[in-house]
Amino acid sequence: MSDSQFFFICNVADLVEGKGKRFIINDCDVAVFRLNEEISVLSNICPHQKAAIIYDGIIEENKIICPAHSWEFNIKTGCYQDGRHGLDSFEVKVQDGKVFAKIFRKEINW
Ligand code: FES
Repeated sequence: MSDSQFFFICNVADLVEGKGKRFIINDCDVAVFRLNEEISVLSNICPHQKAAIIYDGIIEENKIICPAHSWEFNIKTGCYQDGRHGLDSFEVKVQDGKVFAKIFRKEINW
């Protein structure tokens, strides 16, 4: 499967402002957020204990806080607050009220 393909996730209307929602797309567990009318798609797996709970995190300004032990990530980029890579983030496009994202596994196999 091409890694450059956009996958349909949901309608914009299915997302609640300031709340996350979980989807399994192209075998990836993702958390989708709608904040200030912008949509971001991040990996739903917290790197701390590999728990699939990011979608249920607390949104504070521009960050998502893991509900388990409060690790913090930028809600757009998925990075830790110091800029290091945290959660994978996926390119999003919105068309005709539908949300699409370029979702593919990002682990590197050496
Ligand atoms: S599982 Fe997310 S901070 Fe511990």
